[in-house]
Amino acid sequence: MISMPPFHLLCTLIGLLLLPLHINSADPDLLQDFCVADLKAPLSVNGFPCKPEAKVTSDDFFFDGLSKEGNTTNIFGWSVTAANVLAFPGLNSLGISMNRVDFAPGGLNPPHSHPRATETGVVIEGKLLVGFVTTSNVFHSKVLTVGQMFVVPKGLVHFQLNVGERKALLFTAFNSHLPGSAVVPTTLFASRPSIPDDVLTKAFQVGNDVIDNIKSKFSS
Ligand code: GLV
Ligand code: MN
Repeated sequence: MISMPPFHLLCTLIGLLLLPLHINSADPDLLQDFCVADLKAPLSVNGFPCKPEAKVTSDDFFFDGLSKEGNTTNIFGWSVTAANVLAFPGLNSLGISMNRVDFAPGGLNPPHSHPRATETGVVIEGKLLVGFVTTSNVFHSKVLTVGQMFVVPKGLVHFQLNVGERKALLFTAFNSHLPGSAVVPTTLFASRPSIPDDVLTKAFQVGNDVIDNIKSKFSS
């Protein structure tokens, strides 16, 4: 008679068999050549429905939205132009997208994270301090110049600061067609409705005056 393995061994074996199903680095693979997004489709799915193939043209696979410099006249002195599925529907389901990030002198891409993607980037112009913080609270950073690259593991909080004398330009790429971006200052201090002061005063160990002051910087 074949004896059953102990229960904990059975659980471990089942866990090992299922492990590959949990290794999902970013957007899932496509099941066809392409699926140009039909952004106006009334149907709502995880991603976007495909435009009928007969209506797909070459233009769906080209995008010139990153050719123009962004307007950096704002409190952070920066501008992000996204080439994600919303701007470039040909990216739908392909698991990639890019950003153009322009910096005025002293400009900051404020601390933020991308819940759905790892990011890599290359400096095209200028000098940037690039940094991210791990979930163990370790800060990794380096000053990068033209042609130098970085990577930010998925979901970690990161920033870039222009530490050069002139404007700077960065191109970034993501392993998601829609990485999403949670910008720390606006997430915490400019959500709608706002996070109650009681939460923020306790979280940052400061008084209401400090929280109200910060919130006022982001009220439009
Ligand atoms: C830079 O961090 C970017 O998100 O493009
Ligand atoms: Mn980023």
